[in-house]
Amino acid sequence: MGTTPLTGDSAIADWLADPAGNAILTDMLAQSGQTPEVFKPVKRLAIKRLVKLSRGSFTQEMLDELVRRVAAGEVPEGVVPAPAVADEADADTTPAVPLREWTERLDQGRFTGQTVIVTGAGSGIGRATASRVAREGGRVVAVDVSEERLAEFTAEHPGADIVTVVADITDDGGIARIVEAAGDTIDGLANVAGIMDDMTPIGDVTDAVWDRVMAINVTGTMKLTRAVIPTMLAQGGGSIVNTASEAALRGSAAGAAYTASKHAVVGLTKSTAFMYGPSGIRCNAVAPGATITNIEAKFASPLGAERVRAAMAILPDPAEADALAASITFLLSDDGVNINGVTLASDGGWSAA
Ligand SMILES: NC(=O)c1ccc[n+]([C@@H]2O[C@H](COP(=O)([O-])OP(=O)(O)OC[C@H]3O[C@@H](n4cnc5c(N)ncnc54)[C@H](O)[C@@H]3O)[C@@H](O)[C@H]2O)c1
Repeated sequence: MGTTPLTGDSAIADWLADPAGNAILTDMLAQSGQTPEVFKPVKRLAIKRLVKLSRGSFTQEMLDELVRRVAAGEVPEGVVPAPAVADEADADTTPAVPLREWTERLDQGRFTGQTVIVTGAGSGIGRATASRVAREGGRVVAVDVSEERLAEFTAEHPGADIVTVVADITDDGGIARIVEAAGDTIDGLANVAGIMDDMTPIGDVTDAVWDRVMAINVTGTMKLTRAVIPTMLAQGGGSIVNTASEAALRGSAAGAAYTASKHAVVGLTKSTAFMYGPSGIRCNAVAPGATITNIEAKFASPLGAERVRAAMAILPDPAEADALAASITFLLSDDGVNINGVTLASDGGWSAA
């Protein structure tokens, strides 16, 4: 800090710890009515990662301008520097040396010749998974309720083999259209679509929240899995990956409905693995920890907010959706050949705490 020049590879925390970097960043954010507080969850990431993560609100041009201004010493006058977004826990955990950056390495051809259905492909973990499969040669059947988000996804992948299906996984007609779009062979299914609850404990949960969360996270996952089984049996195998959550491993990550729904996803995963393992079908789950996506979590109950927030004090930094896609595609691909019925925590170690 202070000695090395700030670049796109420098961590956000380092930009904020540097007086000039802090002033320039604070000045730039102020123009859109924001403060560096927005960066707190991602402070350990290299600042260049924000270009992709922010989906257009922090552009490559803005980054280039930041780097140029800091190198030229163009520090704005009169800017009150923002606090360096450190918190109490950081004193013990901030590494003495910069951490190595994770780089996604494509395995060319890992999904070549394969058809893979991905639900929730319009956003977050589903979009990252669908993208990785497409970029590794697979034919992707990209499913989402949002036509607009699917259009964005395909626009990001010119030339890739992608079929989009606008469908709700709780709807039988939608399920039929997904399977029809996939065609005669379905090598993989990634059940990623899902929603959060409102963090209410059992004493406060409404029937509406319970029913909706169960319908999408559990029943929708069940319906689409059931629909692909005949094709996978006929072709002698296939790979299914369900999306659980940290809330499938513990009671402190969400409200009653979401926690119950994700525990049910693990049960569904194990049953499917046990029943169809001898037929060549593998079924595993990934349990993501906090991940930067568009998922919405509201706190509709004071008790839920107090209890869940207390547990979140030990959370590792949130991961990028691409990091989850790396775990999901590993299980989905032939590299997962000997793995069946597991729930793989992909959470930066949260579950070890
Ligand atoms: N983001 C996290 O921190 C986190 C943590 C643990 C688990 N998860 C799980 O990961 C999965 C993906 O979540 P995300 O964070 O990427 O969320 P997201 O909201 O960014 O994306 C979910 C996508 O699913 C789609 N979808 C919702 N309901 C649908 C339905 N009925 N039919 C078809 N598509 C539907 C949405 O339109 C959206 O595009 C979910 O199952 C979620 O429970 C997320």
